Amino acid sequence: MSSGLHKKIESLRDQIRHHNYRYHALDDPEIPDIEYDRLLRELQALEAEYPELITPDSPTQRVGDAPISAFGTVQHELPMLSLGNAFSEDELREFHRRVLDKLELDDQAELKYAAEPKLDGAAVSLLYENGVLIRGATRGDGTTGEDITHNVRTIESIPLKLLGNGYPDRLEVRGEVFMPKAGFDEYNAKARAAGEKTFVNPRNAAAGSLRQLNPKLTAERPLDMYAYSVGVASGGTLPRRHSEIIDQLQEWGIKVCPERRVVIGADGCLEFYKNIGERRDALSYEIDGVVYKVDSLDMQAELGFVSRAPRWAVAHKFPAQEELTEVEAVEFQVGRTGAVTPVARLKPVFVGGVTVSNATLHNIDELHRKDVRVGDTVIVRRAGDVIPEVASVILGRRPSGTRRVQLPKKCPVCKSHVAREEGETVARCTGGLFCAAQRAEALKHFVSRRALDIEGFGGKLVEQLVAADRLKTPADIFQLSTKELSELERMGEKSANNLTASIQASKSTTLSRFLYALGIREVGDATAASLAAHFGKLKNVISATDEELQSVADVGPVVASRIRSFFDEQHNLDVIDRLQEYGVEWPESDPVKTPKDGALSGKTFVITGTLPTLTRDEAKETIQEAGGKVTGSVSSKTDYLLAGEKAGSKLAKAERLDVTILDEAALEKLISS
Ligand code: IVH
Repeated sequence: MSSGLHKKIESLRDQIRHHNYRYHALDDPEIPDIEYDRLLRELQALEAEYPELITPDSPTQRVGDAPISAFGTVQHELPMLSLGNAFSEDELREFHRRVLDKLELDDQAELKYAAEPKLDGAAVSLLYENGVLIRGATRGDGTTGEDITHNVRTIESIPLKLLGNGYPDRLEVRGEVFMPKAGFDEYNAKARAAGEKTFVNPRNAAAGSLRQLNPKLTAERPLDMYAYSVGVASGGTLPRRHSEIIDQLQEWGIKVCPERRVVIGADGCLEFYKNIGERRDALSYEIDGVVYKVDSLDMQAELGFVSRAPRWAVAHKFPAQEELTEVEAVEFQVGRTGAVTPVARLKPVFVGGVTVSNATLHNIDELHRKDVRVGDTVIVRRAGDVIPEVASVILGRRPSGTRRVQLPKKCPVCKSHVAREEGETVARCTGGLFCAAQRAEALKHFVSRRALDIEGFGGKLVEQLVAADRLKTPADIFQLSTKELSELERMGEKSANNLTASIQASKSTTLSRFLYALGIREVGDATAASLAAHFGKLKNVISATDEELQSVADVGPVVASRIRSFFDEQHNLDVIDRLQEYGVEWPESDPVKTPKDGALSGKTFVITGTLPTLTRDEAKETIQEAGGKVTGSVSSKTDYLLAGEKAGSKLAKAERLDVTILDEAALEKLISS
């Protein structure tokens, strides 16, 4: 093998390590992602060609490890300690006092502390030998941890090889692995939507992710790490100040928290605490306090330890974001879009800086997964300004005789059916315009510009009238008198006159606007226009079957079923009747006729996959113009499946049912024949 090849591969690795460092550790990339990908691909290609040249510290070797069957144990050469806590300014001042006394310093001594956020994740130890990461371990009980090398290797901000030089031959870096807030929220939202288990908090998310036997799973979790100290360091020297050690680690490519400062005395500590506290919610990661460490290592040595915690450091905690309380009731709230959400009514508890007496349970699946019951003791979590939530139930404290909470069959506000579509996590009230909870929003939509376009009828006015119970349905708008309007707050006679005039004017509208104004879910103005053009008359839309609805351009099975359920509710039909009674009108036309004698008449089509030139809507139109019908799902009544690339389950079903399968070219042939 040529040494040129070796050099080339090592140079690529060095470049990639450097850019990893710029990107992950410094958050300051020098090159665009595409350029980085090019370097990585070049290295991957060379390593594929010469596998004997692959080394474990190559940047390509992060997720390569096979799953393990159990964790090995790691004896920490130096114990991984914990920290004493200070919960108030007084306790912090007492800590400082003890430090000064022990060091025999007087009050005037300008003692330096390294102040850092206390990261809320899981502690790890990373052992580098001659700059190469050889082992990762959890803290465990402080003396014995678990070997998680295969998992820490997947965390991109942890270098597999240190940068630069001058590092000790054996260097143990310690720090916190954490899941950034955004990654945590995204992970939980996805898990929730998929009906899977969510993480209680980012700390559990980090700890749980590190304890995976399969590193591929860990690699999928958005984990990050900040180093905050060193353990073993032999065969080399380190600076004699904590703050300088951290700076030095950063130069060797290790990621450290940018929010660290050197401060003086208790006042300096308190100022840091206050400043970080104010910015806590804006930080991209969770912190549960700050840590102050006597900056001088000589002083640290003099101060020593009490039991398992150093005398030279303390964690100054923020008010807790998690607390225990009891569930007094579980109620269901109806949101503006009709979403029916379970809410826990709690015995009031002070958490995350406020008193919390309600917490969201997100949706019925999550409620059932956590199995929250009335009478349960639960952990409530309120992080930042997000809505408080029930994180988990303490099953050991469940009283006897509790029952599982069920989704109500009727809307608690308007008593319409509560429906939940297959595959949807959210249950919804089908009351639509009839439901008071959905009313204000539905009314704002009704008067909006692309709907009935009632000039001067703003959101505030809608809310005012709904609150006064003067507007229950859109039909009530046309019963408002000028006198009544002029008596409203902030409304003069002139505005009331203008408003009455625009209400009158809005009565002459179009079918398309009217359909849009009804606020049927998934029916935007484009779909409303297609429906109006296709059916011509409102009564045709109301009586259309699912299949007929699906023959309209851009109406698929989901939209069709939304339209059907809307018109299946008698309340909605009543509102429409009243609107027409009060004079809302539009010109009607004849429905579009599908040619009876086209090449495809009498034939039913289903379209799937990506076609080479036509969009799905274009294909649908083409088929309809030739007299064919297009439906959403394959059945024994389907004559043809028009299939493009990436066709999935519909293709399989069509094959099973012996439905003729066409590609775009075959369709064109069929039409022209
Ligand atoms: S120093 C000898 N610094 O807090 C002191 N710890 O209760 C060793 N932690 O297990 C820890 N952020 O997981 C230190 N900036 C920070 C920290 C930090 C979070 C965690 C760490 C440790 C626990 C101690």
